[in-house]
Amino acid sequence: MTDQTRIPVPDHIAQAAHMDAEAYARTVESAARDPQGFWRGVGERLDWSRPFTEVKDVSFDRQDFRIRWFADGELNASVNCIDRHLPDRADQTAILFEGDDPSVDGRMTYAELHAEVCRMANVLKDLGAKKGDRITLYMPMIPLAAVAMLACARIGAVHSVVFGGFSPDSLGGRIEDCGSTIVITADEGKRGGKRIPLKANVDKALEKVAVDKVLMIRWTGADVPLTEGRDVVYEDVREAASTECAPEPMNAEDPLFILYTSGSTGKPKGVLHTTGGYLAWAAYTHELVFDYKPGDIYWCTADVGWVTGHSYIVYGPLANGATTLVFEGVPTWPDAGRCWQVVDKHKVNIFYTAPTALRALMREGDDWVTNSDRSSLRLLGSVGEPINPEAWLWYHRVVGDGRCPVVDTWWQTETGGILISPLPGVTELKPGSATKPLPGVMPAIVTNEGDILQGAAEGPLCITESWPGQMRTVYGDHNRFIETYFTTFPGKYFTGDGARRDADGYYWITGRIDDVLNVSGHRLGTAEIESALVSHPAVSEAAVVGYPHDIKGQGVWAYVTLKADQEPSEDLRKALVTHVRAEIGPIASPDVIQWAPGLPKTRSGKIMRRILRKIAENETSALGDTSTLADPSVVDDLVRNRPG
Ligand code: WT7
Repeated sequence: MTDQTRIPVPDHIAQAAHMDAEAYARTVESAARDPQGFWRGVGERLDWSRPFTEVKDVSFDRQDFRIRWFADGELNASVNCIDRHLPDRADQTAILFEGDDPSVDGRMTYAELHAEVCRMANVLKDLGAKKGDRITLYMPMIPLAAVAMLACARIGAVHSVVFGGFSPDSLGGRIEDCGSTIVITADEGKRGGKRIPLKANVDKALEKVAVDKVLMIRWTGADVPLTEGRDVVYEDVREAASTECAPEPMNAEDPLFILYTSGSTGKPKGVLHTTGGYLAWAAYTHELVFDYKPGDIYWCTADVGWVTGHSYIVYGPLANGATTLVFEGVPTWPDAGRCWQVVDKHKVNIFYTAPTALRALMREGDDWVTNSDRSSLRLLGSVGEPINPEAWLWYHRVVGDGRCPVVDTWWQTETGGILISPLPGVTELKPGSATKPLPGVMPAIVTNEGDILQGAAEGPLCITESWPGQMRTVYGDHNRFIETYFTTFPGKYFTGDGARRDADGYYWITGRIDDVLNVSGHRLGTAEIESALVSHPAVSEAAVVGYPHDIKGQGVWAYVTLKADQEPSEDLRKALVTHVRAEIGPIASPDVIQWAPGLPKTRSGKIMRRILRKIAENETSALGDTSTLADPSVVDDLVRNRPG
């Protein structure tokens, strides 16, 4: 039914938008006819200290592999996000802050942002940071998190932001993998009225891996121990630091940041993005998809620990001279009306959030929404996972009072920015569909053999041509980059997602088709959770699959085989959940642990996840052929003892 539901472009939006249907058609056509010309225009949105003459230089061919954009140009990302706006907007608010505590807020103008970024950049230099060094950020959602990212960019250091919800072990692993010499953190974070012991977690992580310096921001004022010679309190050195810092000229292809994300195998990989292409794509897509116009108040509820926070809280909006709202809290605290109270308080025009938040709020009833005004809202966005049509329609009807287009934006950490999304002034909407590719983006649905399908089709989703925001490598493991993304379907970028394209050419993302879970919009590898489980002394073997979850989209279902001398118990179940939280972080907590005396394996010992998925989904009548299993009886046992 929802396939047929269509929501037309409102006239007032189409008239005022950057791009209307005609302009879109023209742009798509010109991008196809003259790609170099089209992409040159995208690159020219930025200020270059040395203009580029080369535009796209890409080959997805294994033999001759390269991804290079604007490669002879030089620029600095912090200059593009700050300095170039100073002549016109020094006194405009760059960052609006809304604290976890509703009585706490603040703002920072572009002039203030400039001074603060320069200060921190100078502090980092004093701590020994140089161009090319890696710096890990483990921060609360406060303006200084954005300042720290931009300070790294200013001096040419490569930041690696680790989400504040990750455990000390996860943090340590990421510090080690990229060889960070400095960690920037805060004493504590605040979220939903609770304190997060960031500095204590850093201390724990640093028991196993050493760094030269820890720069700690005082935020809650908690009394935290400092290590002599290693730890520096930002507030102690800030005043003495100059508010001017000459930006480091960077080559377009110099790294800007590393961001760790989960894959289907092994440890999380360090996705590396470079300076010119990434920033140009973040800026272009932010303007186009959110139809951003000067003066708009823009709010993305993500955390800077995820790519959404990088591209659509910090780099995209600031490169466009926008006012971006940084929110420390959560949508459901102190109550389920928080988002709409914040929208009214700051007169937010553009609101971008995740389906999981919408589903959680929808459950609390419409009154929390309708008790607010929301007349400032013009546009709503969704990201992170497929949005079910019910949540989409609620978002549109209740939150947007039926007048705000909803842009369902499909992209990935790897893509740097949005690739498939409606454009507010262009695209007739279908609830649940990310609709069409942005100009210049070339998606393809392929067969399992890699043949490109035309027309209505369903299958693995690839992208056949590069775009500037594409990741360039897996930090420290270029082979893994090529293996993961360019080998299943040679010559194409494989997204890991499946998609359906309908007869109108609209894309419907069906979800991951590899062993990656999407839990509340957070990406988790089943392999990571399994290895956390088997690191517990009671566990002999574990297999993790996703299952449909009303709020989280997907939940984590863990099948656990205990060692021979262990007995299943409620205490042990709790201990395993606690163990996974400690190893990875609360986001990876198993929702269900099913004791499994045996796991369904082929005769060669491969775990049949297909069967485990079906059992978790409670589709036990559709298990398919189990006769090739080494021991088919284990399946009967799992079906019989399925919890819930
Ligand atoms: C995976 C990427 C994109 C930034 C946040 C997540 C899923 C993302 C959508 C969407 C359906 C979506 C995909 C993708 N995903 N957006 N609009 N519709 N699925 O970034 O952690 O790298 O995860 O999230 O499965 O591959 P990420």
